Amino acid sequence: MTYSVSQLLTQDISLQPVDIKGWVRTFRANRFIALNDGSTINNIQCVVDFENTDEALLKRITTGAAVHIKGELVESQGKGQSVEIQVTSIEILGDSDADAYPIQPKKHSFEFLRENAHLRTRTSTFSAVMRLRSALSFAVHKYFTENGFYNMHTPIITGSDAEGAGEMFRVSTLDAKQPPINETGEVDYKEDFFGKETNLTVSGQLEAETYAMSLGKVYTFGPTFRAENSNTSRHLAEFWMIEPEVAFMDLDGNMDLAEDFLKSVLAYVLEHNREDLEFLEKRLLDEEKTKPQAERSEMSLIEKIKFVVDNNFKRVSYTEAIDILRQSKPNKKKKFKYLIEEWGADLQSEHERFLVEKHFKCPVILFDYPANIKAFYMRLNEDGKTVRAMDILFPGIGEMVGGSQREERLDVLKEKMKALDIPEEELWWYLDLRKYGTAVHSGFGLGFERLVMFATGMGNIRDVIPYPRTPQNAEF
Ligand code: 4AD
Ligand code: MG
Repeated sequence: MTYSVSQLLTQDISLQPVDIKGWVRTFRANRFIALNDGSTINNIQCVVDFENTDEALLKRITTGAAVHIKGELVESQGKGQSVEIQVTSIEILGDSDADAYPIQPKKHSFEFLRENAHLRTRTSTFSAVMRLRSALSFAVHKYFTENGFYNMHTPIITGSDAEGAGEMFRVSTLDAKQPPINETGEVDYKEDFFGKETNLTVSGQLEAETYAMSLGKVYTFGPTFRAENSNTSRHLAEFWMIEPEVAFMDLDGNMDLAEDFLKSVLAYVLEHNREDLEFLEKRLLDEEKTKPQAERSEMSLIEKIKFVVDNNFKRVSYTEAIDILRQSKPNKKKKFKYLIEEWGADLQSEHERFLVEKHFKCPVILFDYPANIKAFYMRLNEDGKTVRAMDILFPGIGEMVGGSQREERLDVLKEKMKALDIPEEELWWYLDLRKYGTAVHSGFGLGFERLVMFATGMGNIRDVIPYPRTPQNAEF
């Protein structure tokens, strides 16, 4: 029977002939192979009868080699594992030049592993991260499906750049060196593939709104592109965003949904990915030991995840948050880079982190932001100066979610677009929603990689996506 390592280690298959394929992690004393096939963080120990094995074959059992092993699963004689395989035959499927192989059985820096991203999932850390990423993705679809949402695929190439969520990447088949020029001396996009200027999408929200206004509850989960030149540990040029959109739901409902959703997907991995989490928890603990005491986290990785699952998020209005920040020590002692003086200031990540990590010490939902620091489509409050926006801030991450109740009143929306110079022709279809059966509706966007960062304890967003795209970097 062919088994995975995971099956061999968890199921009762003792004293049976087993058959397994995987990669050699280490080969010790000409006898003990630690074999991994990606199905679990754990390796299975395969014990080679070296006295009866051809020496040339033994030499080919090197770190990184792909092998096919047949043998018998027995109770382990040694420490550290309950079962092991007594090898009866071993076939080398793919040799590995052990000296040149980049993934040596030792500690590598994450920078080095990013340069070898095609091989880094052969390490325990990255295989654990990517199994968790996969599980979280499944949990997202599971949550929405079980709660009556339809999954919707929104376009990746978009003809409207009106949303203003960020700088965009142009999509064009025009000759970059000699583009056609129109009468006014500008590039003539009428001659381009789509007959107009097009870009990669920064969000599927506006299209998701159209489907929410017919299917009721929808969500998107797709690639999203932002051409900002922000070289931070929390920004990617290409990331995956989850965007639910719900008809007849107001901002309070939106906050309830986001909180319930986050708790549910995190609870899923607590239940199903325990071994990977325990491994990453240990990794994080080792990393924390290298930091000064004051910067170390008070909670372990699993405790942090449990804390989010078990406790209510703190809901605070922007106005309350500004008061807290204005009175705060770092503001009074001028420790913030951007000091908070006036109501209306945009919050920087230093402020968000203060609120979450120092003041409230739990996830925080900030709501009712000033209209002029938020997008045009957010619903204006009765006060005429704030909008029904919400951001969810997480310890160690900052902004995890951004969402809002949408402006459903045609006249108010049109006025807002006019004030911001957004042409009505470009969003005629969006305005149609407000003409034909308009209704209160809301939604939010969650950056999937930021969720994976939180769940894995990884500190750099480049280490939670297989092949990160960032300024000056699109290798692989
Ligand atoms: O706050 P944002 O820009 O909101 C929107 O795009 C709305 N259309 C969402 C909606 O209401 N449907 O982005 C949403 C989330 C952020 O909170 C953050 O988690 C993530 O997307 N995000 C990024 N993640 C990685 N790299 C980037 N460059 C990101 N920009 C935003
Ligand atoms: Mg945002």
